[in-house]
Amino acid sequence: MTVCVRSNAPMKTISVCFVCLGNICRSPTAEGVMRHQVEAARLSDRILIDSAGTGDWHVGASPDRRAQQAAGERGYDLSALRGRQIGPEDFERFDLVIAMDDANVAALKAICPPAQRDRIRLLMEFAPATDIREVADPYFGGDAGFERVLDQCEAACRGLIAALRPQLIT
Ligand code: 4NP
Repeated sequence: MTVCVRSNAPMKTISVCFVCLGNICRSPTAEGVMRHQVEAARLSDRILIDSAGTGDWHVGASPDRRAQQAAGERGYDLSALRGRQIGPEDFERFDLVIAMDDANVAALKAICPPAQRDRIRLLMEFAPATDIREVADPYFGGDAGFERVLDQCEAACRGLIAALRPQLIT
């Protein structure tokens, strides 16, 4: 006998926004890695993903050429992403606003409505077995910095998905 359980309850979703300074290196990389892992986990309709910068210098710009190159070599396509600046309204839209470093956290706290401050987190909190706190800014450095960003994003996004899974069970 087949028992068919029907429910009209809407499926729970969780929305996350990755944030760095310029939204052209670290947070688009985190967005690309997270999208890839979430698709592989068949959770694209449950975990909604975006990224933004605390600054406005690169609004409308494509991700940094070096970030796109390094990501592309690992199978992540960042070409469709465009820079945007985070605003106070984003703390209503996103369950988690996930910063790359402590300076991003400080900038986010400065614009966040007090009731939503607990939505601000550091990405590396979700990476298992590391005491590294921040994803370092690769913008003024060499190629190794972009590889390190990818390594950190891959580990932390795996941990983030694992942390979100129990919350998706309604
Ligand atoms: P992101 O890197 O915060 O990881 O996107 C940077 C991008 C641009 C600049 C600094 C950091 N900038 O000074 O223009």
